[in-house]
Amino acid sequence: MAGESLYSALKWQVEAGADEAIGETPVDRFAEAPPTPPPAKAREATARPAPPRRATPAAAKPAEPPAAADPASQDAREIAAGAKTLEDIRAALDSFEGCPLKRTATNLVYFDGNPDARIVFVGEAPGAEEDRQGLPFVGPAGRLLDRMLAAIGLDRSDVLITNTLFWRPPGNRNPTPAEAAACLPFVERTIEIVDPKVLVMVGGTAAKTLLARPEGIMKLRGQWFEYSTPAMARPVAAMAIFHPAFLLRSPAQKRPTWRDLIEIRKHLEDSI
Ligand code: URA
Repeated sequence: MAGESLYSALKWQVEAGADEAIGETPVDRFAEAPPTPPPAKAREATARPAPPRRATPAAAKPAEPPAAADPASQDAREIAAGAKTLEDIRAALDSFEGCPLKRTATNLVYFDGNPDARIVFVGEAPGAEEDRQGLPFVGPAGRLLDRMLAAIGLDRSDVLITNTLFWRPPGNRNPTPAEAAACLPFVERTIEIVDPKVLVMVGGTAAKTLLARPEGIMKLRGQWFEYSTPAMARPVAAMAIFHPAFLLRSPAQKRPTWRDLIEIRKHLEDSI
């Protein structure tokens, strides 16, 4: 009986995503002191609602509090700033030790697609299949993303696909702010180097990370924003869409997503 309930507790954890042990000894998180807030520092990338095109821009809202300025993210910023190509960034990520997720991941998952693409998609984080293959969006959500691209006449050779994190969080848990902050400079530098006409944030995490706005994906999706960093010559038109993993669970949201994809396609055609 005890064995059976132990087995069902374990099965429940695996189904919830806790499918691997990441330490030798258990850690009592409740006994830990709460994390100290990071020192305030102005974010370098900015996003604001774009002037009206076809979509209605969101009312201007103050950006979220500044991103963490811990030593790993400072290092990441300096290293990323020195990269001239995506292969420089890949090499830098290969030797970067500032993100603890690297220790539990099997592979670096950097990007897939075309480094000269006119459109960049930024997702959330690699899952189990992405971690195995070292490529973004190759699991069930990736297959739906491929169908979404095909619906607007695109495939992976037309786009560049990356994530806000380059290593899989164990059991697909949420990343810590420090893990996210360590990857962010490399995401920003990737966008700067590719210099796309359109930036698509796939899901709420990517939207919140890149736009640094307080609203959730329900509010942010379908609107044009201007995304820029100090190193960019001009801002890029940016739109958030629902994540395909969410669409797999909530097929009713495919209809607004279809409208968003059409809007993205039109913008891409207009900006030739
Ligand atoms: N979900 C993401 O956001 N990114 C991936 O690479 C895979 C699934």
